[in-house]
Amino acid sequence: MHPRTSDVLVVGGGIIGLVTAWRAAQRGLRVAVVDPGPGGGAAQVAAGMLAAVTELHYGEDTLLGLNLESARRYPDFVTELQQAAGGVDVGYRACGTLAVALDADDRAHLRELHALQRRSGLASEWLTGRECRRLEPMLAPGVRGGLRVDGDHQVDPRRLAAALLAACERVGVVVHRAWAERLVVLRDRAAGVLLGDGTERAADQVVLAAGSLSGRLGGVPEEVLPPVRPVKGQVLRLSVPSAYAPFLSRTVRAVVRGSHVYLVPRENGELVVGATSEELGWDTTVTAGGVYELLRDAHELVPGITELPLTETRAGLRPGSPDNAPLLGPTALPGLHLATGHYRNGVLLTPMTGDVMATVLTTGELPEEARAFTPGRFSPAPATGPAPVSVPATVGVS
Ligand code: GLY
Repeated sequence: MHPRTSDVLVVGGGIIGLVTAWRAAQRGLRVAVVDPGPGGGAAQVAAGMLAAVTELHYGEDTLLGLNLESARRYPDFVTELQQAAGGVDVGYRACGTLAVALDADDRAHLRELHALQRRSGLASEWLTGRECRRLEPMLAPGVRGGLRVDGDHQVDPRRLAAALLAACERVGVVVHRAWAERLVVLRDRAAGVLLGDGTERAADQVVLAAGSLSGRLGGVPEEVLPPVRPVKGQVLRLSVPSAYAPFLSRTVRAVVRGSHVYLVPRENGELVVGATSEELGWDTTVTAGGVYELLRDAHELVPGITELPLTETRAGLRPGSPDNAPLLGPTALPGLHLATGHYRNGVLLTPMTGDVMATVLTTGELPEEARAFTPGRFSPAPATGPAPVSVPATVGVS
């Protein structure tokens, strides 16, 4: 029989919810997680690139700082997590990334990215097409140049999720395999969650970490509902037979006709090809068009992929936020925290999110490096006025 109260109740058992729970439990808090399928969600789809440098965008300097710090923490985080999970290997691979250009437009785009990286003090090296092919012989002969980024690595998000779940269970986190129906608010304070089976779980603090569904939990007052939206990504998985290995030795990516395509080779022979980016609400259909575009673009980069067995097609939802950065820490409703909105960087930001949220949950304060990501940046008014209204949920969250 599970205890009915805890210090912290985390709504959402994806990698962000689980890392929050694990880190909080390590600090001595009694923690529970609510999710009908813990370890599922976007981590089952994501490729797991740790691409702080190759996914740099104009105007995202603050996010870059958080991304780089999380990338810096990754090796120690992986070592600690693997041990805490009883030896689960999370597939962390310090392989680097090669971003290439196939035509003059792509090359101009990549040159701009290179200039931005240099202005930001980031390590990347411009290579000719021939130098790119020397590094990765499977690249198309037409590759016109590329950027070598030795610091952008990868991890296997499915194994990462499994390890986090194991680490949580080993440190005493209680996992309720159920839907969260509604936030319970008592005397103007988040006080727990009503589950789909009709039982209520009380907690001193609630963390809403339900990825793209975070804005849909019933009972959350309008003014603190996180402004996250689903951004669909379709991803393919292929397998590299041992006779073809090494097919690629690092992540290879490009922007082809304005769309991002990347190929992420795992040590175990899996090759992940992603990803579309579609604003289509909650639709997670794998479409012929999505698969076609990914294969067409990936084939232009690495023609040999057509020889490989296609083992899986899948679509998931990124939790997009208005400024593409996460929402971390306390909301204007006492007792309610957010850890959501990670958009394209959820896997990369997993170590940092765990550390930040554990600090928030034990001290009540956001650490300096996370202050810019307070949910209050979207609803700066303090909590005043009438008590929040509890409304029935129409959609549960996982
Ligand atoms: N960061 C990779 C993606 O969101 O597709």
